Amino acid sequence: MTSNLSPIDIAKFAAAKRAVHYVEDGMKVGLGTGSTAAWMVKCLGERVQNEGLKIKGVATSARTAALAAQVGVPIVALDEAKWLDLTIDGADEYDANLNLIKGGGGALLIEKVVATASDQMIVIADAAKQVDTLGAFPLPVEVIPFGWKTTKSLVEETLINLDVMGRDAALRMNDDQPFMTDEGNHILDLSLKRIGNPRQLSLVLNQIPGVVENGLFIDICDMVVIGHGDGAVEIRDINTGNVEHDRIDLPDSDNIFADIAD
Ligand code: A5P
Repeated sequence: MTSNLSPIDIAKFAAAKRAVHYVEDGMKVGLGTGSTAAWMVKCLGERVQNEGLKIKGVATSARTAALAAQVGVPIVALDEAKWLDLTIDGADEYDANLNLIKGGGGALLIEKVVATASDQMIVIADAAKQVDTLGAFPLPVEVIPFGWKTTKSLVEETLINLDVMGRDAALRMNDDQPFMTDEGNHILDLSLKRIGNPRQLSLVLNQIPGVVENGLFIDICDMVVIGHGDGAVEIRDINTGNVEHDRIDLPDSDNIFADIAD
C-alpha cells in the first residue's frame, strides 16, 4: 500500500490504472485534462515504456501535452489523427445516465471536441463525483473575451426561463487576472445548484452569441470507471448496462507518480 497517497489520490489512480486496460496497440487515444487524467497519462506512459505499447495520443490541453511528452506518450494533432478510438478523461460530476459536467480545469472546449471525435469516451472519477442531478458543481461556460460582460448578462437572463435553481455567473479568475483558456477565451462559472434539463440548457447556452461552448457533456460518455480509496473500482457501461467490479494493486513505492503536478 502506498504510504504517501491520500484516499482520494488512490481512488483517482485506481480509476486511471483500470481505464488504461482498454487501450490497445495501434489505438489513437484522446488524453483528458485534470488531476485524474494526469494519472491516466502516467499509467499510459508506463505501458508504453514497459510493454512497448504503440499508440498516438491527442492531448486536450497544453499541460496534458507536456505531461505526455514527459512520460513518453507520442502526441499528434487531432486533424492528423482525424478520428480516435477512445478518449479517457476526468469529470467534475456525472449522473446515472453518464451525462457530465466538465471544465473545472478550464479545458472543456478541446475536451468536448476530442471526446466527440472518438468512438468511445471513458470517464475516470472518484465516487464523490457521482450525483443524482447535475448542477452542484458550477457549470463552466467558455466565452470569447470580447463583450464578455454583455454575454454574462445574456446568459443570466436566459437562465430565468430554464429549469435551474440559481443563475449567478462568475468570471473565473487566475489571481487578479481573468482566467484564459488554451484557446484564449474566458470562463463563466454558473452557480445553478440543480440542472433540471441538462440537454435543453446545453442547447440554449450554445445559442448565445459570445458563448463558445459549455461544460455539459450529454450522450457523449459511454463508460465510467469509478475509483475508491482502497483501490476498488467499479466499471459501468451505459450502452450495455453491464457493471463490473475489480481491484487495482497499489504500488509500494512512495514516489510513484509523485512528480505529477496537475
Ligand atoms: C478539465 O477541464 C476538466 O474537465 C477535468 O476533467 C475535470 O475538472 C476533472 O478534474 P479532476 O480530475 O482534477 O477532478
